[in-house]
Amino acid sequence: MTPSDDAPLITEAASALSRRYREVRARTESLAAPLSPEDQAAQSMPDASPTKWHLAHTSWFFETFLLTPHLDGYGVFGPAFGYLFNSYYEAVGPRQPRPERGLITRPSASQVLAYRAHVDTGMAQLLADLPPALAPLIELGLAHEEQHQELILMVVLHLFSRSVLSPAYRSGPAAKFAAVAPPRWRRFEGGLVEIGAEARGFAFDNETPRHKVYLQPFAIADRLVTNGEWLEFMQDGGYRRPELWLSDGWATVQAEGWDAPFYWRWEEGGWSTLGLEGRLPVDPRAPVLHVSYYEASAYAEWAGARLPNEAEWEHAAVTGEGLAQLYDQAWQWTRSAYDAYPGFHPGPGAVGEYNGKFMSGQMTLRGGAAITPPGHTRPTYRNFFHPAQRWMFSGVRLARDAAAKAETPNANFAEDVVEGLSQATKNLSPKYFYDDEGSRLFEAICETPEYYPTRTELALLKDAAPEIAAHISDGAVLVEFGSGASLKTRVLLDAAPQAAVYVPIDISPDALAQAAAAIEADYPHLIVSPLADDFTAALSLPAAARGRPRTGFFPGSTIGNFAPSDAVEFLVRARGLLGSGAQFIVGADLVKDEATLVAAYDDAAGVTAAFNRNLLTRINRELGGDFDVSAFEHRAVWNAGASRMEMWLMSARDQEAKVLDRTFRFRAGEGLHTENSYKFTPEGFAALAERGGWSVMRKWISSAPEFGIFLLSAI
Ligand code: AVI
Repeated sequence: MTPSDDAPLITEAASALSRRYREVRARTESLAAPLSPEDQAAQSMPDASPTKWHLAHTSWFFETFLLTPHLDGYGVFGPAFGYLFNSYYEAVGPRQPRPERGLITRPSASQVLAYRAHVDTGMAQLLADLPPALAPLIELGLAHEEQHQELILMVVLHLFSRSVLSPAYRSGPAAKFAAVAPPRWRRFEGGLVEIGAEARGFAFDNETPRHKVYLQPFAIADRLVTNGEWLEFMQDGGYRRPELWLSDGWATVQAEGWDAPFYWRWEEGGWSTLGLEGRLPVDPRAPVLHVSYYEASAYAEWAGARLPNEAEWEHAAVTGEGLAQLYDQAWQWTRSAYDAYPGFHPGPGAVGEYNGKFMSGQMTLRGGAAITPPGHTRPTYRNFFHPAQRWMFSGVRLARDAAAKAETPNANFAEDVVEGLSQATKNLSPKYFYDDEGSRLFEAICETPEYYPTRTELALLKDAAPEIAAHISDGAVLVEFGSGASLKTRVLLDAAPQAAVYVPIDISPDALAQAAAAIEADYPHLIVSPLADDFTAALSLPAAARGRPRTGFFPGSTIGNFAPSDAVEFLVRARGLLGSGAQFIVGADLVKDEATLVAAYDDAAGVTAAFNRNLLTRINRELGGDFDVSAFEHRAVWNAGASRMEMWLMSARDQEAKVLDRTFRFRAGEGLHTENSYKFTPEGFAALAERGGWSVMRKWISSAPEFGIFLLSAI
């Protein structure tokens, strides 16, 4: 390329930059235009500098970093302006303390506009003959000014929130939102991905350098959390339940008396919120706004999910399809602390203070908000605020680990097996018993004379069904956790024809579809709305369940297969899913004499032994293992201290087994722990339920061998 080929390009780029300069500067002034000089001068809190200060400071930036050093003959507009309108640049000199910016009654609003015009005249001269090396600094000045445009709207809203008049910044209706479906989860495999800004195109220094990050499989919600969902969280005691909150968050809730998002107010029987259009009723379909990191984190905990980290968010935003509300509603809290990327270096000189020095004690937000200037944000953009701040337009997008999802049973199985076999006491999760053969064997166990729980529970359920059914409201939805073939459900459905909707949740889509079709055929009045999901992780119910009284159903004493802390977590999640006012019917096996218990888990026909060993067969088949299955003996023991039956596979000799190219050694007599089956006392079960947010309303206990059915109600 010859130099003359270059020339027009440079001119074009320079005139594009000049045009952008004029547009950005004009937009700032148009945002301030609806405000009176009094509005523009007031400071409603230390964080919220007055609009007039923003108008001046953005000009100071161009004056200080471009005009004074680079435009020959430029004269500063006012000698004290450097002191008044420097924000935080230590390298530039001392400044008006931030909490006292509201005291800047001089210069007046009109003098500040004259200051802007003075700077614009100088910038027009500089842009007319721009040394190319200065273009990035001008880009930075413009992106900086756009950030202050958003700040002006935040400042105005906060200022107006302190006025008894609840003024509207602009007239006209607030944005309309259509009814929302439950969020859908977009799944990402993760692995080694790259995040951060590419070298080309403008980006702030904190978005660089682009670098590699390893992501575990994760899922992210396709939309933001709505006000309606936030109301459910509030109604469920979200702001009163310390177990949902980070310690600092809970301390802040107490100290600040938080009971709702920042601008919400309870009046005349409903919640209203302040927006730029004034105070309006909270729209349950709109994304929730003005929540702190602490609130976002508590909500996620309540919803049985978590916040995404910023690498997950960016990877999903760049590579994913079908994610709505990424940039146009609310900044989305991530669980990532605002920190330097590996290899980050702040730029040289004073502008190096732009982002880097704030990298402590803040959390990153991603995306963009309805008030963010058009075109300002991008997938790599990193916004950041202190975790207790709420005055920005911040909202929530949920994420969760995908390890337990059905789509990758083998990946999860492989990870869990390798991890379990690497422990000092080798163990495997009982959830992997149930491949086709395992499920068949479990059904066979239920037929053995020794295994009493299934038939005892069924008989008890039949006896108690009319009484249980009396607690099920008209039009209720029955939600079954781990529904399988939905057999016990029929006893309840027969007794409770007033139930209108049945939501079976099961991880196996085939079993679920079959069971749902069979129930649909036999109960034509019932709406059957199956949910193919891990029942311990399901986050929201299908639309058919909305607005209906809810009863959960979890028979079979499967709760006994969870460690107590996991059982509590499951109960908390189930409560989140079912909501306040819900009830939960849970079957739980009870403590009894050791002989009965051990026989139930070590039947004479050896069915349970085959069930236990089948786990090794499954590892051999699905993970290419080479276990000698016959060299492991089934053992069932009663652990009285822990109140549980334990199943083990005991190595009959010194041996090795290979799984996924890893070798695991077993000594003769060494055990591999495969299952716990907790047995409860009625009091112990009530205490567990209480830790999970439920109280026992009624219970039915069978005669020996004792089994319990508990009717819980949400606390
Ligand atoms: C599914 N679960 C409740 C059974 C139990 O009793 O813990 C699994 C089982 N394990 C051995 N036998 C049955």
